[in-house]
Amino acid sequence: MSDADKTVPDTPAATPESGPQPAPAPAPEPRQARMLTVRVQRSGPGGANARFDDYRLSVGPEDSVLDVLDRIRVETDPTLVYRHSCHHSSCGTCAMRINGRERLACITRMLALGTDVVTLEPLRSLPVLGDLMVDMRPMFAHIDPDWGYVRPVEKASTGVPHGVARYTRLENCIECGACMSACPVSNGTNDMPSAAAQAAPQGTAQSAPQAAPQAAPQAAQDTGESPPAEPMFMGPAPLAALNRELARHPERREELLHIGKGPHGERHCRRHLACSRACPSGVYPAKDIMDIRMMHGGGKD
Ligand code: SF4
Ligand code: FES
Repeated sequence: MSDADKTVPDTPAATPESGPQPAPAPAPEPRQARMLTVRVQRSGPGGANARFDDYRLSVGPEDSVLDVLDRIRVETDPTLVYRHSCHHSSCGTCAMRINGRERLACITRMLALGTDVVTLEPLRSLPVLGDLMVDMRPMFAHIDPDWGYVRPVEKASTGVPHGVARYTRLENCIECGACMSACPVSNGTNDMPSAAAQAAPQGTAQSAPQAAPQAAPQAAQDTGESPPAEPMFMGPAPLAALNRELARHPERREELLHIGKGPHGERHCRRHLACSRACPSGVYPAKDIMDIRMMHGGGKD
């Protein structure tokens, strides 16, 4: 299935009983600047000496989280560590947890969050290099650099060559890591978010403590015995990339499925769907994982 056939999970669902649901009315746009507290997790590499620092400043209606971080770094604290590049949701480098949810800082407007205190934390599941910056290498370790892709921007700039009816969109992934952070298997919480947390409007979710990636099972910790080493889950983004490669190269099906069903592959997925909810780019990696599972006769745990 191409990405074009997929449904972005936040789209209101149609049911046989109700028919298509109308989109919720947008919240009124904030029009005036407000004083806010920005609470930033600070730490060294590996999350050493983690603490929260508060910065109080006036925030305008157009200010993004990234705009505000830039102001704090220039005007108040040049030691603040975070990553950014494009400032328009293309590069994926500014992903972080904002009020407990994975988002892109460059397109998240501070006042639209609706809270007086905005809490910023690094992504989970990936090692912290410092403050809000994480090491993306564990995610890329499972994505072969030779796997291909076609991005919509390339489609727009090159056009469709003579004799080609249309492009099939294979990926929109901006490699931000939001899905890796949100996945309860990858981030070690191994639990569904509570119903209250799922129902909370964006910006009001309470921040949960940073869990150790791939935490050891609790029962084994209680007995004092060392659990057998669990193979690590490669995570949603690499499996989404793998499924795109399967679509491009059906002749390599066996070789690629061998990776997808290997010790780091889809067998770890517990269908939380948190990856698809967190993705800012409409990739829907949970669907890719289920495609891979079904391709080798799976579908059952
Ligand atoms: S699948 Fe979505 S959330 Fe995951 S890395 Fe790609 S763009 Fe980010
Ligand atoms: S700075 Fe590039 S996605 Fe946010």
